[in-house]
Amino acid sequence: MSKSVLVVGGTGYLGGKVINHLFNHSANVFALVREGSNTQELESKGVQIIRGDLSKPETLLPALKNMDAVISTAIGYSNRKKGDNLKNVDDLGNRNLVNAVKLSNTPRFVFTSVLNVHQAESVPHFWQKKLIEDYMDQMEVPYVALRPGAFLDQTPKNDFYAGGLKKGNLKVFGTTTVKWTYILSDDIAKYLAIAAVDDTIPLGRMDIGMTEPMNIQMLVKYATEYSGMPIKVGALPWAVIGSIFSFIGLFKSQMADLKKMFDYMFSGQYVADTSLQLKYFGEVPSVKDSVFRYCAQIGLPKRSA
Ligand SMILES: NC(=O)c1ccc[n+]([C@@H]2O[C@H](COP(=O)([O-])OP(=O)(O)OC[C@H]3O[C@@H](n4cnc5c(N)ncnc54)[C@H](OP(=O)(O)O)[C@@H]3O)[C@@H](O)[C@H]2O)c1
Repeated sequence: MSKSVLVVGGTGYLGGKVINHLFNHSANVFALVREGSNTQELESKGVQIIRGDLSKPETLLPALKNMDAVISTAIGYSNRKKGDNLKNVDDLGNRNLVNAVKLSNTPRFVFTSVLNVHQAESVPHFWQKKLIEDYMDQMEVPYVALRPGAFLDQTPKNDFYAGGLKKGNLKVFGTTTVKWTYILSDDIAKYLAIAAVDDTIPLGRMDIGMTEPMNIQMLVKYATEYSGMPIKVGALPWAVIGSIFSFIGLFKSQMADLKKMFDYMFSGQYVADTSLQLKYFGEVPSVKDSVFRYCAQIGLPKRSA
């Protein structure tokens, strides 16, 4: 029988992809959407809209009625609306959702976390995910927290690499040699959808990534192999760029948070153990295949055969 699944964050970058995968699994798909947010695209896909807001706990319990699972990709950190921030959405909003899952006895809560957040107390928006994971344990809700590495394909507005790869001259912050775990957003979206509809995916926390960590040299190597075009690569010194981040961070907390995130990632600790991913979701995407898919996605011309 088709499962009824509520997506929180469905109007966002990742949530929209999760919804596409839920339809692939023949789910009845619902989305919790804030007043004033556009639902046109979701409705055209056949998503059933429930108006609600993580910051308004009274809207959550009715939204969860008769749901087999809820998936949250929502985040306040990306600042889409006035008042969106770590405290209101990622902390209090997520706690409201966990409380509603508990009260409604929703059988499965699939939470989008971040890789290795238990090691990242210095990074506020990472640590917040860890605190919510702990809160789910404390409240004894049946949850799956998928912990993806960095998205190789960020939103087009925030993409770090597409412009440079296409120009044949990629400049990155800090380092081209330190490796960390990446994942394509469509792959994590697929796993989030499966975790909601497939009860064999075990409850608890699970790292998600590619088969091995990648550095920028590897990205460029595979992008060059894909396109057949030489691509120059260089790193802007983190001592300089990081100081600029710190200065702006005095006025903008998001920038201070980003500085801490890069410091953490450059430490080399942002690496996934994909053994559970392999066991429960099957073959883990390889770095080469993921980079090739990313190149196709950003429209990098492909080498002629
Ligand atoms: N980027 C990465 O490298 C990376 C790595 C690991 C994990 N992640 C995680 O992946 C997720 C990615 O998010 P994204 O890129 O899809 O973000 P996004 O495009 O900014 O979307 C955020 C979504 O959250 C919704 N939302 C915000 N506040 C809400 C509230 N109070 N109530 C209900 N909905 C609310 C927004 O709805 P509106 O349309 O109403 O604004 C929107 O649908 C995040 O959880 C992030 O932590 C990202």
